Amino acid sequence: MPKKVILDVDPGIDDAMALCIALFHPELEVLAITAVGGNCSADQATRNVQAIVEQLDPPRWPRIGAASPPEQALPVEGRYLHGNDGLGDVELQVAELRSRHPSEKVISDAIRSSPNSITIIALGPLTNIARVFQRDPELSSLVDRIIISGGTVHGPGNITPAAEFNVYCDPEAAREVFRSPSTKTLIPLDVTNRIMLSYDLFNRLPDEATKAGRLLRKILPPAFRAYRQCFGLEGIHVHDSITLTAAIHPELFTFKEMAADVETMGELTSGMTVFDRRRVPAWRHNMEVAVEMDEKQVVATMISDLGGKPAE
Ligand code: RIB
Ligand code: CA
Repeated sequence: MPKKVILDVDPGIDDAMALCIALFHPELEVLAITAVGGNCSADQATRNVQAIVEQLDPPRWPRIGAASPPEQALPVEGRYLHGNDGLGDVELQVAELRSRHPSEKVISDAIRSSPNSITIIALGPLTNIARVFQRDPELSSLVDRIIISGGTVHGPGNITPAAEFNVYCDPEAAREVFRSPSTKTLIPLDVTNRIMLSYDLFNRLPDEATKAGRLLRKILPPAFRAYRQCFGLEGIHVHDSITLTAAIHPELFTFKEMAADVETMGELTSGMTVFDRRRVPAWRHNMEVAVEMDEKQVVATMISDLGGKPAE
């Protein structure tokens, strides 16, 4: 029985790559893709979700949720890695935006109609999910699980020395979700930073004859250029595809129950994910956190799930 999922995304090149996996994966039933601002503005994120779905034209089209700006303006956008439009400035064609149902309403309606059976895979800031729980607190106990791409346990942040991008964009929302009674899984930078999509792996992606291959071969080269210019790296991070792989293949990861919260006021530490690792923790465990993964197998599975070529 395919797993019913909602993908909450701020596309974002690595979000788009995760959608290339999710929309064609036999083990997933993608009920909805809901946009949230982060790597680009809220409006652009909505536009990008529709453009990606149109480009991929999956066998079953998911509902699309429209992002609205967070209460606090986005502190930063991922433009330096994802381009001004969030997808490498490749100017994907998109039909006139279809009816715009707010993301939080699409999520709430889906959970109401299928209680205790939906997994939310959160690949952007947690703005939408926090709104869902603020407006209808009961829903946090009716969602089966929330799998979150973000945070950092031991390692440095990636947008400030202390904070990971998704949490940094809306720390109040992240705190709301972390403190909710929902069942949560966190895939932090400590794990997702360990894999880079190299040029060798890029060459193993499906070719332009496939819809995923055509989209990926358009939007990934600008990301490779940005990583080389910004970090001197010959490869790119694919945080969201690793998170999606954890949702489909949890057996490739090791998880640990932990107690976490989010700093929302720090001048230097806003958006920092704080874990109670004292010998006798005072905070109650509120999530499972990925602490290890079988990197070789995760890479092979991601490429295979994209329809790519096996290693020679
Ligand atoms: O920190 C990485 C995360 O922030 C990824 O989800 C990326 O797409 C950005 O949203
Ligand atoms: Ca993202």
